[in-house]
Amino acid sequence: CIDIRTLYNTTGKLSYDPGFLATASCSSAISYIDGDKGELLYRGYPIEQLAKECNFMETCYLLLKGELPNKEQYDEYVRNVANYSMVHEQMQFFFRGFRRDSHPMSLLVATVGALSSFYHDSLDISDPEHRELSALRLLAKMPTLVAMSYKYNAGQPFVYPRKDLYYTANFMRMMFATPAEDYKVNDVLVRALDRILILHADHEQNASTSTVRLAGSSGANPFACISAGIACLWGPAHGGANEASLAMIKKIGSVDKVAGFVKAVKDGTAGTRLMGFGHRVYKNFDPRATLMRETCHEVLEELGLKDDPLFKIALEIERVALEDDYFLSRKLYPNVDFYSGIVQSALGIPSSLFTGIFALARTVGWIAQWKEMISDPEQRIGRPRQLYVGETRRDVVPMSKRG
Ligand code: ACO
Repeated sequence: CIDIRTLYNTTGKLSYDPGFLATASCSSAISYIDGDKGELLYRGYPIEQLAKECNFMETCYLLLKGELPNKEQYDEYVRNVANYSMVHEQMQFFFRGFRRDSHPMSLLVATVGALSSFYHDSLDISDPEHRELSALRLLAKMPTLVAMSYKYNAGQPFVYPRKDLYYTANFMRMMFATPAEDYKVNDVLVRALDRILILHADHEQNASTSTVRLAGSSGANPFACISAGIACLWGPAHGGANEASLAMIKKIGSVDKVAGFVKAVKDGTAGTRLMGFGHRVYKNFDPRATLMRETCHEVLEELGLKDDPLFKIALEIERVALEDDYFLSRKLYPNVDFYSGIVQSALGIPSSLFTGIFALARTVGWIAQWKEMISDPEQRIGRPRQLYVGETRRDVVPMSKRG
């Protein structure tokens, strides 16, 4: 790893690295990816073990505090998060200013940013207690806001959070309960969504996390920073890929059309990449994709949808692509988004909300990274340089003399 700052200070030379392919923007102790081995660790623990042994709340505790909680710490933490899950009643009116068919991500960018206007203590980021409180509020209120976005789109009344339910069960209830019928918690489905949340919780310096850090480096309040992260996540090359991936699978329509579609992707005539394939860092299998495929099996089995045509098309895409030199030579394997759309769809989540679920999961990672950045003595305002390719110095000609 070259210390570019020393190089710059001693020689005045800059590095040119569009897309930050070879630039470490910070040091971090939160998550680690070995892209060649297909390994992801949170605070040193392999993602496979966390997905099997822990729930999302334990994972949140781990990411934010550095260690897994014991039973007592866990119970207190879960109670604390549940206590902060309500949003201010005024927030309902804020939602009502939007069109009913607004994309949930636009609702989330706005409403999460708006939380800062309710919590003035969040503006003082120099106080560690205020930072803890903001972290807790963000984690606790995010499911409420995501569910409110869904209900607003659906034209249904908002469902208030319940403190006696586990985080993910409470979220599913806020999504699916109606005045006519309460939501009956299904442990298999709650566990499946919980696993989606664990798998998406953090992923070192991806685009949205880097956005949160960059916004936070100016001293902006945490709600505004997370809102910036949500905006970045929205794009199809990042968190929007799960929505795009499911749309692609639906567009293909049947197993026998897969080979032709994959060929068209390679020829460039499909007008799209193979959505849910490829990753900037993983140049081997994305370990989250493997776990997501397992979860897909479990959920479809539970719901009696074992012969789900979309899942069959997805499996066929994977089979065809992984036998094709185009994908193998470029190290393009399924990423986490490839199967998550099918699981979420089976859970009853509309595709327009997939990226919102990703935002819900990633909030803990964004907060952990933001907190780490604020307390890092090396932290300075993020301010990349550029390679100027415009005009050299010239003089202004008065308008009357311009040709
Ligand atoms: N389908 C077909 N070809 C692809 C794909 C794909 N999904 N991804 C990359 N390629 C090809 C490119 O055309 C390029 O080919 P070339 O060398 O012949 O020009 C080569 O692979 C390298 O592609 P880059 O764009 O340089 O790879 P990069 O690392 O910048 O992009 C990315 C990574 C954005 C994820 C890309 O693979 C992609 O667009 N995938 C589809 C979208 C997607 O699934 N995004 C989710 C990412 S995971 C996440 O956000 C949680």
